[in-house]
Amino acid sequence: MQFFVDTAETDAIAELSEMGILDGVTTNPSLVMKSGKNPRTVIAEICRIAAGKPVSAEVIATEADAMVAEGESLAEIADNIVVKVPLTWDGLKACDRLGRMGIRVNVTLCFNANQALLAAKVGAAYISPFVGRLDDLGLDGMELIHEIREIYDNFDFPTEILAASIRTPLHVTQAALAGADVATVPPAVLHRLAQHPLTDKGLAAFLADAAKIKSD
Ligand code: G3P
Repeated sequence: MQFFVDTAETDAIAELSEMGILDGVTTNPSLVMKSGKNPRTVIAEICRIAAGKPVSAEVIATEADAMVAEGESLAEIADNIVVKVPLTWDGLKACDRLGRMGIRVNVTLCFNANQALLAAKVGAAYISPFVGRLDDLGLDGMELIHEIREIYDNFDFPTEILAASIRTPLHVTQAALAGADVATVPPAVLHRLAQHPLTDKGLAAFLADAAKIKSD
């Protein structure tokens, strides 16, 4: 499973990139707003840091023609831009048209299997089902990843399943087990993947014993 980081914080992206565990980046207007930087400037900076890896940048237009124009403009920022459009009827039209222009599209805000089926039909490069936001409603967000995996496999759709709205390390494990192609994970959750209390306890014991070793 590929790891994308879900953030517009460039320091975090640079650290993950240097570690070699970064396969791509996803942003959205909320994350760009939190960065406090000019949207095009920060997206260009992210594309440089994650050179050669897909960086999703989301349109804010809501009508198909305007989404296509905005998508074309975003795609001019760098070769590794993936244009993100919402899963609306107009978003599907824009996905189809951008795809025909050779621009890769991530269809976002997906909350059921039929939406994912439509995104695949219009040639989305990625579909982004939001696991955590379904869990927030008392539903089983991860079940949607299983459903989409089965549907895409039934018909050999090449659209990659990008598990989004990932909130916990358990979500990451479950997304991998469900066969998601990608999980996009906030930096804080990525850090938590490496943590285990028994690792800390074991390390503390080893260090305590090492301190007792007498050197010659
Ligand atoms: O990738 C989508 C993600 O940013 C949404 O996450 O936690 O706001 O539901 P969240």
